[in-house]
Amino acid sequence: MKSLRLLLLFVFIQGSAQQGGMWIPSLLKGMNESEMKNLGMKITVDQIYSINKSSLKDAVPQFNGGCTSEVISPKGLILTNHHCGFDAIQNHSSVEHDYITDGFWAYKMEDELLNKGMVVSFVIRIEDVTSKILDGTTSLAETEKQKKIQENIVNLSKTLPKEAWQENIIKTFYYGNQYLLFVTETFKDIRLVGAPPSSIGKFGDVTDNWVWPRHTGDFSLFRIYADKDNHPAEYSTENVPYKPKYYFPISIKGLKENDFTMVMGYPGTTQEYLPSYAVDQIINIIDPTKIELRDVTLKVQDGFMRKDNAIKIQYAAKNATIANAWKKWRGEIKGLKKADAVSAKQKFEKQFQEKVLKSGKEAEYGKLLSDFEKNYSEIKDYALAKAFFDETVVRNAEILSVGYKLYQLEQIYNVKGEDAFNDRRKTLVNGWGEFYQEFNPTVDQKVLEQILDIYSKKYPKQFLPSSLTNIDALALSNEVFTNSKLVSYDKVKELLNGDSKTVLENLNNDKGYIVAKTIIDSHLKNVLPKYDEINLKITATQRTYMKAILELFPKNRVFPDANSTLRVTYGKVKGYKPNDGVIYEPFTYLDGVMEKYIPGDYEYDVSKKLIDLYNTKDYGIYGVNGKMPLDFIATNHTTGGNSGSPALDAKGNLIGLNFDRVWEGTMSDIYYSPEICRNIMVDMRYVLFIIDKFANAENIIKELKIITPEKKK
Ligand code: ARG
Ligand code: GLU
Repeated sequence: MKSLRLLLLFVFIQGSAQQGGMWIPSLLKGMNESEMKNLGMKITVDQIYSINKSSLKDAVPQFNGGCTSEVISPKGLILTNHHCGFDAIQNHSSVEHDYITDGFWAYKMEDELLNKGMVVSFVIRIEDVTSKILDGTTSLAETEKQKKIQENIVNLSKTLPKEAWQENIIKTFYYGNQYLLFVTETFKDIRLVGAPPSSIGKFGDVTDNWVWPRHTGDFSLFRIYADKDNHPAEYSTENVPYKPKYYFPISIKGLKENDFTMVMGYPGTTQEYLPSYAVDQIINIIDPTKIELRDVTLKVQDGFMRKDNAIKIQYAAKNATIANAWKKWRGEIKGLKKADAVSAKQKFEKQFQEKVLKSGKEAEYGKLLSDFEKNYSEIKDYALAKAFFDETVVRNAEILSVGYKLYQLEQIYNVKGEDAFNDRRKTLVNGWGEFYQEFNPTVDQKVLEQILDIYSKKYPKQFLPSSLTNIDALALSNEVFTNSKLVSYDKVKELLNGDSKTVLENLNNDKGYIVAKTIIDSHLKNVLPKYDEINLKITATQRTYMKAILELFPKNRVFPDANSTLRVTYGKVKGYKPNDGVIYEPFTYLDGVMEKYIPGDYEYDVSKKLIDLYNTKDYGIYGVNGKMPLDFIATNHTTGGNSGSPALDAKGNLIGLNFDRVWEGTMSDIYYSPEICRNIMVDMRYVLFIIDKFANAENIIKELKIITPEKKK
């Protein structure tokens, strides 16, 4: 019995534990390679990353800073998400050409649309520069040490060898225990090639965001242009399509549950090595506070958006952004509680302490956990106050965010004087044109009321400004919106008119500014300095803790937290059990779009062309058994920044395009569980079907290398 249990345990560990983690592509040899082979990978890690010959990494550029893309043709065609290209699509749209609603397709290269400021960045090579960065820092105290490290980073970025058209970027891994140099090439002439209508690219929009089962065709196409030497260049009509070192063949053979997949891309931030005290604080204090403040904001905005179409247009994008993280945090709390992440961390911490004793490293590592405990308990109220500030002033109540900019203007005057004041004033006034077009005082007055009410009741008492204690939030918000000049573009311009003395005097008599300044002052004077001080200690402890984990647990799978650098994650296609009695399958089909279809709805409308294709089952070579595959999920460990990442099969062929995670598994930013953490991808067969059958963009299909199933003999 016992041995059977052991065997089962072994099988379980073999089957599920070898997943999760975002690994550095140049360091996959050994443990990762054997895990990947065990999961079914058929290529070598040299084919993923090599500096001597072309490899998969040469086809995975970062897309415009925050997303990922992949090269899919010899002419520099790249694929990314619709939500990553959305800004560009929106900027090219007008009432006559509504590419958001109708989609856009360039049927010849001349029709492709330039996107000012858009960049796409390739990794050329990765090198370890740890010893160079830490040179001359070991004996320094914490603050000086960090300063010296920053200096070294700046200097080495300038002096390490690279070509004239490349950049050196140095990033820290494992909290300052490793530094890697990325030599990159950044292309600046990027043109829009294609985007489906929003009814495909954003199907299910906010309601389906973070949700499985999903039916979104979240993709768009761009092309990289280079100069005649194939190097990066500013936009020019002389530029030519970029000739890539590598581009992905696209497989339409289809996968089954449990098949190997991997994802390459640029995950932004994770916090996998937090101690239990920190996770406990996130679950019980930080996340709930941020959620509560966004709850009221979203409810107010949504109420107005449903009644008033003009407000819907003004607030749609802002509301979606606020809702995106709000929904993620709710899933995160749910997942962390369900997986009992705090207990799991505590268990590890017990092991850790035992290991420290056994290895005789007490002097170096013996106090780490008690330091964490002390510092996290000390930072608690400061962290809560900071969460309030970030959500209150920087985000939800928009009038306070205007107040914050004006506060900075006043600071600039105090520190730098007249000229700097005038420059900043000009920038603010110019920038606010667009802001006020999307600002509705009736909406924001209600938001401010709700936010101030929570603030006055739940902000840590010891920091709460006396003028905001026991307030009537409704009355105060009314007063602000009746008297303040911050509530419209014309009024704010009037307020900023005149010489600096007059402006600052008027500013300090403005009710909206007074409220904002009270909140900001309290934060900057009573909260932030102490927060920074404790946080510096936490950062130092975290760095030593990370070092100790690497040293004392050499056999553990310790991957570096995400930091927007190129990573590889792998796993298998797999469904999951979100709740008792519910099983989710790993694939969805076009049939599900028709099930969700609500004519005229802004999230679930379906275009006539797609309905026709569905009715006639005109799926070309992309359908299987009369059905059109749409999205699928797998156990790849991804996060924000992996949007647009290529999902690859065992041979490294492109099979999907990453765009989201399942709600129940968003805790993977803090604690990955192969049971419930899934990434969501669009099946490449759906992408090709839309390009080919829906858009009839044969010109695009002709550029691609498509791998079809072998014909049955
Ligand atoms: N949740 C996805 C990602 O974070 C998609 C976001 C865009 N889509 C949306 N409906 N807001 O961050
Ligand atoms: N939608 C996310 C992005 O924009 C990816 C989803 C995630 O967080 O995993 O990067």
